[in-house]
Amino acid sequence: MKIKNFCVLLFTSFLAYGCSQQEVKFTPNNLEQYRPAYHFTPAKGWMNDPNGLVYVDGEYHLFFQHYPDSTVWGPMHWGHAVSKDLVHWEELPIALFPDSLGYIFSGSAVYDAENTSGLGSTTTPPLVALFTYHDPKGEKEGTIDFQTQGLAFSLDKGKTWQKYEGNPVLKNPGIRDFRDPKITQITQADGKSSWVMTLAAKDRVHFYESANLKEWTFLGEFGQGVGAHGGVWECPELLSMKAPDGSQKWVLLVSMNPGGPQKGSATQYFIGDFKQGAFTPDDTMIRWLDYGPDNYAGVTWTNLPKEQNRTLWIGWMSNWDYAQVVPTKTWRSATTLPRELNLFDVDGTLLLQSAPAKELISMKSTSYSVSGKESLIPSAAVEIRAEVSGDDSFSLLLSNELGEEVVINKEMGLVTVDRRKAGTANFNRDFAAAHSAPMSWKAESVRIFLDASSIEVFVNEGELVLTSLLFPTSPWKKIALIQGLDEVEILDLQESPNPSLEKN
Ligand code: FRU
Repeated sequence: MKIKNFCVLLFTSFLAYGCSQQEVKFTPNNLEQYRPAYHFTPAKGWMNDPNGLVYVDGEYHLFFQHYPDSTVWGPMHWGHAVSKDLVHWEELPIALFPDSLGYIFSGSAVYDAENTSGLGSTTTPPLVALFTYHDPKGEKEGTIDFQTQGLAFSLDKGKTWQKYEGNPVLKNPGIRDFRDPKITQITQADGKSSWVMTLAAKDRVHFYESANLKEWTFLGEFGQGVGAHGGVWECPELLSMKAPDGSQKWVLLVSMNPGGPQKGSATQYFIGDFKQGAFTPDDTMIRWLDYGPDNYAGVTWTNLPKEQNRTLWIGWMSNWDYAQVVPTKTWRSATTLPRELNLFDVDGTLLLQSAPAKELISMKSTSYSVSGKESLIPSAAVEIRAEVSGDDSFSLLLSNELGEEVVINKEMGLVTVDRRKAGTANFNRDFAAAHSAPMSWKAESVRIFLDASSIEVFVNEGELVLTSLLFPTSPWKKIALIQGLDEVEILDLQESPNPSLEKN
């Protein structure tokens, strides 16, 4: 990795500074302790899964599971935010409110360009959202069919939404956990396209098909006895992707809670083929999208312009084990960084890479190149980039003046993020832990994103990723390069030092 905009001025014996580039302008929502600068958080209240990700007219729409009246989970709404660059988010009025059919659980949105649904016109194509209705009354009464699928549409590019009068569009066949429709548009060999819905059904995925987004036919299911089954399957998604050899593969993302590799929630994926409603995995290996404890329920954006030529994904940066008790005050939860998914090959095995979206690479920032063993961290919102020199191991440590620390290393084929001494952790007995992931191939580079209360570690541009929440009592102040790192650069992504963080 090359250091860009390199202009060194020795500051102390161990710290070298580079030239300042243009300053970043963030929505000034980062004056509260733990409030991130470049990750989306709702202004107030509770958030979980990202929903309805759709790109329209230059804007990335992010809907999300939201309870505006409390910082814990409750009657779910779809909150709404938009961004033009995946870095600066503007929160908009709530898009979908609970109604007599139930809370509005997770789901997806598509741009119905041909007006297959008949809900708009070819001159005003509708945006169509499919979501789960969760009827709390039915749940209380002990029924099992209280989750059904509903439809809503927008004729003003996502600003306002109307619920479809024929809801629910898919009734419950008698499965207690029956939720999270994600729609993929599939073009068949004969050029015809149809809508395919992946739906989580207890411990497996159901596939449905539709020509008009309103009537759905069951195609088949996948998952019995395959993959990880430590918990309920949620938020599945079927993706068509290219392997490095150019062949077409199908990737099935499946979130699961609990039973993740670090306890609690996590997202596994399968790589294989999808034909006539049947998904066949290439092998029975269990693969995880992110080996950190805090990345769940992620899905991809639909309707990206062809020329973007990417699979763009975002997750919920938390874990059901403690999401509702983390020490943020006015809101709870953030999204992960948006990431670009690609298949790569390790000794004949295909795996899924998730790299920070390219918008983050070109984010305007102040850049410092680090020479020597230690450096100050200029703010609570930074990216650290480094090359792994020499052999395959590296180690670095972040610390603050209170002696709190995080260790990030690769040793003996394991990449670890150790948050055992990383600050406030008394809200959950498993939070203070070291989390490791196997990486049998060589680490070449590391990118680490810190943003007030999180760390995202991308080894080899996301060939291995660990995402973790961190609640340091005072911001990270120092980085110590213990071993094996070269060409280290720190990018300050914060507009100005955060005064409220300094006080703690
Ligand atoms: C995943 C999930 C979904 C559900 C939603 C409810 O985190 O449990 O399965 O639709 O959250 O908020």
